[in-house]
Amino acid sequence: MRFFCTLHFITFNPMKIIIINGPNLNLLGKREPEIYGGKTFESYFADLQSKFKDLELEYYQSNIEGELIDKIQEVGFSYDGIILNAAAYTHTSVGLGDVVKAVNTPVVEVHISNTLKREDFRHVSYISPGAKGVILGFGLLSYDLAIRSFL
Ligand code: DQA
Repeated sequence: MRFFCTLHFITFNPMKIIIINGPNLNLLGKREPEIYGGKTFESYFADLQSKFKDLELEYYQSNIEGELIDKIQEVGFSYDGIILNAAAYTHTSVGLGDVVKAVNTPVVEVHISNTLKREDFRHVSYISPGAKGVILGFGLLSYDLAIRSFL
């Protein structure tokens, strides 16, 4: 008797998650290290990539509100998750709040510092009403926790 063996190739599509950072977060490492720490985001991002090897992790940063909105529109109908630290725009941007609500991809809002322990103007977030959840105050670990929230 002859056995025929069929090989099934299972294609494995890794989860696609993007971290989007807003204004001045390109200065991490030199910007107010007592609040934001002494590490650059690029070096932290490399740590995240080696920690979460099964994920397709991407990183985007812009100081420009419209570019952040464009990026969220671009990825927001195909990626599995968006981790958004809109930085100062968190507290001012109706446009960013609207785009978070407009896309299908769930958005987790992240802050390095505990914004609720800081000045009153940082207690307002235009992002939170459309976000799946909010993680704040754990330093850079906030991003790590946000990634875990998608797993
Ligand atoms: C921040 C908090 C914001 O209030 C501030 O404007 C930032 C960074 C944070 O990650 O703690 O730029 O989003």
